[in-house]
Amino acid sequence: MDLGLKGRKALVTGGSKGIGRAIAFELAGEGADLAICARGARDLDDTAATLREETGVDVFAGAADVTDTNEIRAFVEQAAAALGGLDILVNNAGSALPGTFEDVEEVRWRADLDVKLFAAMRCVRAALPYLKQSTQARIININSIVGRQIAPEYIANSTDRAACLAFSKGLADNLAKYGVLVNSVNPGNVKSQAWGSTLDYFAPDAELEEYYAQASRETPLGRVGEADEIAAVVTFLASKRASYITGASIDVDGGLVRYI
Ligand SMILES: NC(=O)c1ccc[n+]([C@@H]2O[C@H](COP(=O)([O-])OP(=O)(O)OC[C@H]3O[C@@H](n4cnc5c(N)ncnc54)[C@H](OP(=O)(O)O)[C@@H]3O)[C@@H](O)[C@H]2O)c1
Repeated sequence: MDLGLKGRKALVTGGSKGIGRAIAFELAGEGADLAICARGARDLDDTAATLREETGVDVFAGAADVTDTNEIRAFVEQAAAALGGLDILVNNAGSALPGTFEDVEEVRWRADLDVKLFAAMRCVRAALPYLKQSTQARIININSIVGRQIAPEYIANSTDRAACLAFSKGLADNLAKYGVLVNSVNPGNVKSQAWGSTLDYFAPDAELEEYYAQASRETPLGRVGEADEIAAVVTFLASKRASYITGASIDVDGGLVRYI
C-alpha cells in the first residue's frame, strides 16, 4: 500500500522516547521528514541522530516544553522553516498521573490538564497556518482509553483525557472546511518509561516486568502493547489512504476496554 508519506513534513511532540519516538521512526520509515521536540535535550538529540542515520530523512529537533506557549510557537515556526512547511501534527507529549480524587491535589491536576489538553491546543494554534497550506493535512492526538472507560484510580487522567477526546472531536468539525483531518488514537497499556510513575504509585516494591505481567492478564490479547503498534495506526491515519476519516477515536489496547 502506498501511504503517500514520502516528503511529507511531520511534527511529533514528545518524540524523544516511548510512543512518540516510535511514531517518528514509523513516519520516517515511510519517507516523511520529521520535527521532534521534548524537554530533555539528551534523549532528543540521540533520537534525532539515530533517525537521520537509519532513515536518511531530514530531522529538526528542538528542546521545547509543550506547557510553554512561547517555546512551542518558536519551535513550530523553526520546524516549519527548516522542513519547508508542515503536513502532519502528532500531539503525543504527556505523562501519566495516577491517583484517586483524594490523592490528587488541584495544582497537580491543573498541571496534568495543561500538559494534555492545553498543550494540544497550543500546538494546533501554532501549526494551523502551515497545515492549512497542506494538501494532506492531519492532526493526530494521542489520548488514552481511560478517557472513554473511566479508571477511578486515575481520576485526573480519565477526566483530562475525556476533555481531550471532546476537543479532538470538536476540532475535527471546526477544521474540516480547511481539509485538516483530526483523529484520536487511544493506547491501552503500552510499554514505555512512563510506567515508572504508575509503578511508584500502585506497587513501589514491584519490578516493571511483574507489573506488565499483571496488566497482560487483564488484556484479552494476553500482553501489553509495544510502542510501534500505536505508531502503525498513527502512520495510517497520517497517510493519504486515510482520506475520509476525521473525528474518529481509535482504541489500540489489545481488546482491554469492554464498551461497544
Ligand atoms: N504508555 C502507555 O501505556 C500509555 C497509555 C495511554 C496513553 N499514553 C499517552 O501516550 C503519550 C506518550 O506516552 P509514553 O508512554 O510514550 O511516555 P514516555 O515514554 O514517558 O514519553 C513521553 C515523551 O513526551 C515528552 N514530554 C513529556 N512532557 C513533556 C512536556 N511538558 N513538553 C515536551 N515534551 C514532553 C518526553 O520527553 P521529556 O521528558 O524529555 O520532555 C518523552 O519524549 C502520552 O501522552 C501518554 O499519556 C501512554
